[in-house]
Amino acid sequence: MQKRDELYRGKAKTVYTTDDPQRLVLAFRNDTSAFDGEKVEQLDRKGMVNNKFNHFIMTKLEQAGIPTQLDELLSDTESLVKKLDMIPVECVVRNIAAGSLVRRLGVEEGKTLNPPTFEFFLKNDALHDPMVNEYHIQAFGWATAEQIATMKQLTFKVNDVLKKLFEDAGLLLVDYKLEFGVFNGDIVLGDEFTPDGCRLWDKETREKLDKDRFRQGLGGVVEAYEEVAKRLGVSL
Ligand code: TMP
Ligand code: ASP
Repeated sequence: MQKRDELYRGKAKTVYTTDDPQRLVLAFRNDTSAFDGEKVEQLDRKGMVNNKFNHFIMTKLEQAGIPTQLDELLSDTESLVKKLDMIPVECVVRNIAAGSLVRRLGVEEGKTLNPPTFEFFLKNDALHDPMVNEYHIQAFGWATAEQIATMKQLTFKVNDVLKKLFEDAGLLLVDYKLEFGVFNGDIVLGDEFTPDGCRLWDKETREKLDKDRFRQGLGGVVEAYEEVAKRLGVSL
């Protein structure tokens, strides 16, 4: 496999084409961004930690029967993935109230949600990722009813697998965001699963060990990601 040209530069990852039209290289950078790209900083080791973290989690999800785009780890900061036709919506499941839910509904942070909630957001920084529903997604042709049903089902299956995985490591999976794409007609989990796109709290102290440390200027961002990786047994 030969890495070729830069295809797309996102806020935290760069995507490269390869000599195989069905495969891409994802390069995880140290750039850390929040508030739709308004706050950006370079954090040492973050690209490496997230690449290995993502590989670990995606492997666990594959083992649980969830189709993912991940093929293999290529280097400290790069992974080979299947080239998906991405669906421009974000799927968010929440087990505990935090973040935009708290701001939007004025509820207390930390309240356990029973059942866990599901939300779709449109992936659009300029519009600040507005919440959308299944009617918007179908009416604008972003996904079909069948694809929507599969994304929801897979996002909840990820919750079953990861809630337990984190719980066993002394962590609460508060909420997370997934993105899906289409590969050979099938819905496949794409993008990444790292502490950049989820909330993780220590089970006992409820200390934040995710990107909220960056959003809220708490410091020790990469150190927290490394602590989570260590508890899960991810080799860095
Ligand atoms: P929120 O509380 O800001 O709506 O985010 C819910 C979860 O989804 C949180 O873990 C962060 C993640 N998320 C992203 O990573 N990127 C996004 O663009 C959005 C909307 C959420
Ligand atoms: N909305 C996500 C966050 O606040 C991503 C971003 O803003 O860049 O982290």
